[in-house]
Amino acid sequence: MRFFLDTADLDEIATGLEWGMVDGITTNPSIIAKQGKPYLPTVREIAELVPGPVSGEVLATDYEGMLDQGRRLADLADNVVVKVPLGPAGLRVVRTLRGEGTLCNVTLCFSAPQALLAAKAGAAYISPFVGRIDDIGGVGMQLIEEILTIYRQYDFATEVLVASVRHPEHLLQAALMGAEVATIPFGVLEKLYKHPLTDLGLERFLADWNSTGRSFED
Ligand code: G3P
Repeated sequence: MRFFLDTADLDEIATGLEWGMVDGITTNPSIIAKQGKPYLPTVREIAELVPGPVSGEVLATDYEGMLDQGRRLADLADNVVVKVPLGPAGLRVVRTLRGEGTLCNVTLCFSAPQALLAAKAGAAYISPFVGRIDDIGGVGMQLIEEILTIYRQYDFATEVLVASVRHPEHLLQAALMGAEVATIPFGVLEKLYKHPLTDLGLERFLADWNSTGRSFED
């Protein structure tokens, strides 16, 4: 299972890379807006820092505009994946870019039929937003299960990129279901390391050794 970080914060990215847990990055307009920096240069900077795929999203909503922005994003670096919103124009862009050898991540997916359309259009990744479905009283992870079933049934190459991850339980469920990728906010990545028994166990090990009054060497 690959872990992408859902952030444009360079410190978080550097730390995630240092920990060896970051296989790629996803951004969106809200995430980049938080950094208060210009759009395209931010995507370029991240793509230069990260060896894996970096998703940069188009801002236009019409076919021509999205295609032009998608091409400009793809030109930034070889590892840039163009993020395109679901809809007829977006999926048309995916088909065109795919023909040019550019990978696309189809975003804002909230139903299995939408995911089926994205796969038929040739998306490299589909991004179902599980947290936002939970927010309105649905069960986000059920959508992941449905998409995986459909994709496996028809042997689609599109990878399921679990997005809008809010807590470690989302990660656990995604891993149990066999989702190929999850994109994780930095705070959730930190939580994945934590268990109270790990902290308590370490505290006891060290207290027991320190009570001997001896050092590491003797
Ligand atoms: O990058 C897309 C997605 O992960 C956004 O998550 O938390 O804004 O619903 P969120």
